Amino acid sequence: MNSTTTVLLWLLLLLNVQKFISAQSFKCTETGKCIHKNEKPDNNTLYECQNACRLTCGRYGALWPKPTGSTIIKNSVVHLNPHKIRFELRTTNANGQEYLNAIDEIFLKNIASECEKRDCVTESENEIVIQYAVNVFEDTLTWDTDESYSLAISTLDQTTTVEISSHTLFGARHALETLSQLITVTNGPSTNFENVLIIVSSAQIKDRPVYAHRGLLIDTARHFIPVADIERALDGMGASKLNVFHWHATDSHSFPLEIPRVPQMTIFGAYSHEEIYTVSDVRHIIEYAKYRGVRVIIEIDAPSHAGNGWQWGPSYDLGNLTVCVNQQPWRSFCIQPPCGQLNPINLNVYDVLRDIYRDLLTSLPHETMHMGGDEVHMGCWNSTKEIVDYMYNNGLGQTTDDFLKLWSDFQSKSLEIWDEESRATSVTSTQKPVILWSSELTDPANIEKYLNKERYIIQTWVPLTSPIPKKLLTKGYKLIMSTKDAWYFDHGFWGNTRYYTWKMAYKNRIPRDRNVLGGEACVWSELIDNNSIDERTWPRAAAVAERLWSDPDTDISLAEQRFYRHRERLVDRGIRAEAVAPRYCVLNEGECT
Ligand SMILES: *[C@@H]1O[C@H](CO)[C@@H](O)[C@H](O)[C@H]1NC(C)=O
Ligand SMILES: *[C@@H]1O[C@H](CO)[C@@H](O)[C@H](O)[C@H]1NC(C)=O
Ligand SMILES: *[C@@H]1O[C@H](CO)[C@@H](O)[C@H](O)[C@H]1NC(C)=O
Ligand SMILES: *[C@@H]1O[C@H](CO)[C@@H](O)[C@H](O)[C@H]1NC(C)=O
Repeated sequence: MNSTTTVLLWLLLLLNVQKFISAQSFKCTETGKCIHKNEKPDNNTLYECQNACRLTCGRYGALWPKPTGSTIIKNSVVHLNPHKIRFELRTTNANGQEYLNAIDEIFLKNIASECEKRDCVTESENEIVIQYAVNVFEDTLTWDTDESYSLAISTLDQTTTVEISSHTLFGARHALETLSQLITVTNGPSTNFENVLIIVSSAQIKDRPVYAHRGLLIDTARHFIPVADIERALDGMGASKLNVFHWHATDSHSFPLEIPRVPQMTIFGAYSHEEIYTVSDVRHIIEYAKYRGVRVIIEIDAPSHAGNGWQWGPSYDLGNLTVCVNQQPWRSFCIQPPCGQLNPINLNVYDVLRDIYRDLLTSLPHETMHMGGDEVHMGCWNSTKEIVDYMYNNGLGQTTDDFLKLWSDFQSKSLEIWDEESRATSVTSTQKPVILWSSELTDPANIEKYLNKERYIIQTWVPLTSPIPKKLLTKGYKLIMSTKDAWYFDHGFWGNTRYYTWKMAYKNRIPRDRNVLGGEACVWSELIDNNSIDERTWPRAAAVAERLWSDPDTDISLAEQRFYRHRERLVDRGIRAEAVAPRYCVLNEGECT
């Protein structure tokens, strides 16, 4: 044998090995699971790769979150050429046009992300026509926005028609996200072992969310989280149909949010001049979020969780705006160091708050804000002579009730200023509610004394077994729920907290009540920065997303295979979502349940 023959023989052998390795296939069982088979695929019962099997296997295929209305996904696919996708829309509305153009781009990018690492061939002659029918072109998302949509796919000859109909632009966006999940890459004998995009050739889906508020909180004060990382979180939210980015922007640790009217806030409060969200950053984030179906609610926590950023009062002759800042021993003055609480008796504090609110309302378009209101430490105010003297002069003592009165006065004044600034900057005069964390002030026994239920939405952060949410509902308050022992994703890494798996996050049901607006997963950033934010957040936030979108009462084992697929989708889209099962269990659906 000469060397050329040897090389040829080796090549032949390699090619055969290649075919042999690729002769694996997947079978969709009657219970909707894709089972790994070492058999040569045939064109009816066996799929060449898992993603192709998952695309149409089971009632909900690869969709996450699962639709809440009728869902039919036919077991047939056609090849898709991303260069042969045409979007058709009948509107001359500029808002609508701009929004739809933006979501079309995102859609194309998302399907390209499936191909990026895989080098797809895109030679199909099939044409895809996506037709929109949208009623209203309002592009501000609120608790009243109709997010429902219907999606119909049909294929005739070499044309696949996708009809998207929705009341709002946000419904259309969700439909397009669903459509992207009806597309995947396949590879096997039928494609000559090349990567090819396929799309389900026939489907009908009607869908709408159960809860209007489906949130993710990110804390950018314990650690500054760069804009690019926030963008990735918003990408994941769009992919999972979460719709509220609760931005815990400031805390006692740092104040990274640029306030043009009060530049001192970041000069004194940012970790460095690079760790600041400029007005244009914030605008960009709000815009970026909008095109992912997400609205941004900014929280300026007060009167507690305020310290660094507020220390400049004395040097500007405004007195102490905050008290107990960075004070030690911290346990006597706060729950977590560094300490700091606004000084509610210094009227200059309210002028600064007014400037902050005005900047939020004008330079950063907002319809509501989160006013914080958690963990006021009475020991801090109680140890401040100026405050105790004031209370004494105003007929108050030093009991818990007296401090609650002081706190609620602070809260009333803050709301009044917010209302005044809202009126001054907005065309509508209707008073919108603001959000507050649950606290001693929202204790069901006292809340009616302090907080008007028409004006305050309470975000509860108590354990599942706590009776507080139910009691607040009985009293007629609206709630957003962040079940502490399921949706606090910072847990499991400090103290005696435990890590909540995606299944625990998924199983956490919140009441179906007109006054429960929804819930939020919380990513507190004491132990999280841009090196680990993706892993801590994803894919668990997606488990919360299906809970809030679909609120399924079915067994979690029915969600598992779709969840694994969604996690890989997030990874394809550039999010470092952590693994949730050994590769074997992902490939062999149902075997590790
Ligand atoms: C697909 O299956 C049908 C019926 O089982 C068979 O006649 C046909 O040859 C198959 N086509 C391919 C490409 O394998
Ligand atoms: C402001 O705080 C400083 C430091 O805690 C304190 O020494 C000072 O007396 C305070 N000023 C007033 C007006 O209370
Ligand atoms: C405040 O301090 C006084 C005296 O030090 C104490 O008697 C009182 O109980 C304290 N109040 C609270 C709410 O802790
Ligand atoms: C985290 O952010 C810093 C500062 O912006 C940057 O230098 C670093 O590369 C980022 N790390 C990761 C993993 O993104």
